Amino acid sequence: MKISPELSQYVEHVTESLNSIEWCAQPKGLYEPCRYLLDLGGKRIRPALLLMAADLHGAGIRRYMNQAVCVEVFHNFTLMHDDIMDEAPVRRGKPTVHKKWDVNTAILSGDVMFVKAYELLATGLNPEEIHSVLPIFSQTAKEVCEGQQMDMNFETRKNVSPQEYIKMITLKTAVLLGASLKIGAVLAGADEEQTRLLYNFGRDVGVAFQIKDDLLDAFGDSAKTGKQPGGDILADKKTLLMLLARERANNRQLEVLEKLKSTELSGEQKVAETLRVFEELDVRKTAEAEMNRYADRAKQSLAAVKPVNQNAKDVLEDLSAALLEREF
Ligand code: IPE
Ligand code: IPE
Ligand code: MG
Ligand code: MG
Ligand code: MG
Repeated sequence: MKISPELSQYVEHVTESLNSIEWCAQPKGLYEPCRYLLDLGGKRIRPALLLMAADLHGAGIRRYMNQAVCVEVFHNFTLMHDDIMDEAPVRRGKPTVHKKWDVNTAILSGDVMFVKAYELLATGLNPEEIHSVLPIFSQTAKEVCEGQQMDMNFETRKNVSPQEYIKMITLKTAVLLGASLKIGAVLAGADEEQTRLLYNFGRDVGVAFQIKDDLLDAFGDSAKTGKQPGGDILADKKTLLMLLARERANNRQLEVLEKLKSTELSGEQKVAETLRVFEELDVRKTAEAEMNRYADRAKQSLAAVKPVNQNAKDVLEDLSAALLEREF
């Protein structure tokens, strides 16, 4: 991902603050995995979005750092549990928490991160500010769970419509990008219309971002993504690629896709055969076009945003472009 010096400012501040979180020392089995996952890095885009939204509305970069760290800790909690659910062995190039320790550890360390996120959300805010952001965060957290449940339900469903897929990724991924911006904007005193525009921008970028994530899962370089190659195929995920393939498949291809599910093939063969069908049906281009459609919609919302600080808006524009060209 191309990170401009302007963008890296936000990310560096966030990383510094993440490093200084005091996790209790004991019991080690509870807190070490939290530190482990956070220390593996990540793009830190959600906290960067929150800081940018606040900066764009005149609050400066550092004022809402606790709230920025809150959304990153929350995101990492969702990853810890997501990796259990997706049976993912690697994350950010290293063993997932449930592999390095065990499933119970990943459940409980995830839980404590979720609580930590709430604690951070309120830190340094006055009661009125807390009252203004708490419902946004809680609503978003529930929506992420709803999206994750839909994602799991889809694994065993034959026919999922493109609309249902978009709804699912909006909930599991996109709303958190939108809410990060919204929290930053609300705290910085943006009016309702400006807040709505930023939320919509983040949500539409988020949909594009998840389509890109699906594309990288199938076609990306696992050395760069830090994830298991073809993880979505192995977990029978109904990604946009899979939906498009099923929609376009002739009887033979449909049979291949069906057979792959209950197959005796090795994981690697399953991925290779599925990718071959994706290739034959040329689904990649269509998924990329759909990603770009949401990115364009996001741009339209951003164009209507009236910044107090134009510089922050420019960085926001750069970030959304970088997210779709990324390789990890
Ligand atoms: C991964 O999120 C999960 C999705 C919602 C696609 P990121 O791609 O932001 O993961 P990190 O934090 O940079 O590792
Ligand atoms: C994850 O979607 C969304 C959340 C963690 C809420 P994915 O399952 O596609 O994310 P990765 O690919 O494991 O990062
Ligand atoms: Mg996953
Ligand atoms: Mg998942
Ligand atoms: Mg994924």
